[in-house]
Amino acid sequence: MSQCMLSASAASHLNEDVETDDCLTSYTYLFSPDILKDKVAFITGGGSGIGFRIAEIFMRHGCRTIIASRNLDRVTEAAKKLTACTGQKCVPLSLDVRHPQTISTAVEEALRQFGKVNILINNAAGNFLCPASALSFNAFKTVIDIDTLGTFNASKILYEKYFKDHGGVIVNITATLSYRGQALQVHAGSAKAAIDAMTKHLAVEWGPHNIRVNSLAPGPISGTEGYRRLGGLSAEAKKSFECIPLQRAGNKTEIAHSVLYLASPAASYVTGTTLVVDGGSWLTSANHMSPMLDHWTSQAKKD
Ligand code: HXC
Ligand code: NAP
Repeated sequence: MSQCMLSASAASHLNEDVETDDCLTSYTYLFSPDILKDKVAFITGGGSGIGFRIAEIFMRHGCRTIIASRNLDRVTEAAKKLTACTGQKCVPLSLDVRHPQTISTAVEEALRQFGKVNILINNAAGNFLCPASALSFNAFKTVIDIDTLGTFNASKILYEKYFKDHGGVIVNITATLSYRGQALQVHAGSAKAAIDAMTKHLAVEWGPHNIRVNSLAPGPISGTEGYRRLGGLSAEAKKSFECIPLQRAGNKTEIAHSVLYLASPAASYVTGTTLVVDGGSWLTSANHMSPMLDHWTSQAKKD
């Protein structure tokens, strides 16, 4: 049996994922179905990719959700799908995490509709491959603004409006990019490293308010915009993922289950940490400039 076939067979033991922003066609519970019963989660970027699947898995476990991003049509469409497949309420709202006033308005609407928010998932992000030498000042700033400042903005607003008096859970979706200085990723690597630092600072300051703050750093996750933009499809075609200890890319449901753990009472004594969910990828994956530059150049030619 080839390595590839081994990977496929290992993957078949998991919930089969779907590549598109649609709900799973079947689902086997691994956690208690009531683990988030009566909870309300606010998920930035919940209309697509990993955020969509987090919303779905939370809702399958009794949670109601708010999914919020810039594109109201996208979150509205996603909310319809999520409610149809889980039977739980999902409210789509528009916001730009770079603009605190838009977050405030959305959080007030969430509190008006649900009376509470127990969980914040800071998942919204922007990224693309680009060598530092070609990155404009504004491109670097844009990614820092969305990822790092956006995470702080949403966390502080939820803290002020609800968590300070009622407790809460924050999970920040970060990345392993900075661990080895990933090529062509100085902007996103720096942004996500700052969020991991923020996780520790906020965990220390807000722990006495019964607020837990953790990060979750995914590896390459199939069926996502991040995977498409960062060369996941060509790595898959070249069988590059065989060098990952678990010999494959991850899927969105695997990330959502790990976020579910961190957000749930099963992690009641876990705060200020980063959970890496990458099949061991950052330990062994290649990090060479020249093939990454080749990929970047070939992508640029297609645009
Ligand atoms: C170089 C780029 C660029 C690119 C944009 N810019 N795309 N530079 N390469 N591919 C530059 C622009 O030229 C501009 O600089 C600046 O960035 C801002 O661009 P705008 O298009 O004006 O920004 P905006 O409309 O706010 O869009 C933000 C965005 C966009 C990040 C550029 O791609 C976006 O909205 N992304 C959201 C979805 C996304 O990225 N999903 C993937 C997340 S994956 P100048 O100097 O010209 O003004 C992820 C994975 C992490 O995060 C880890 C994986 C392992
Ligand atoms: P994605 O589908 O593009 O998710 C990003 C989401 O963020 C989109 O729904 C987008 O919606 C929203 N967003 C972007 N800018 C925003 C802004 N300024 N304000 C509000 N919302 C904004 O990509 P993904 O691959 O699933 O990534 C999800 C998360 O996982 C990100 O934090 C990413 O860094 C992380 N991650 C992904 C991978 C991977 O392999 N995919 C690996 C490591 C980490 P709108 O366009 O509607 O605003």
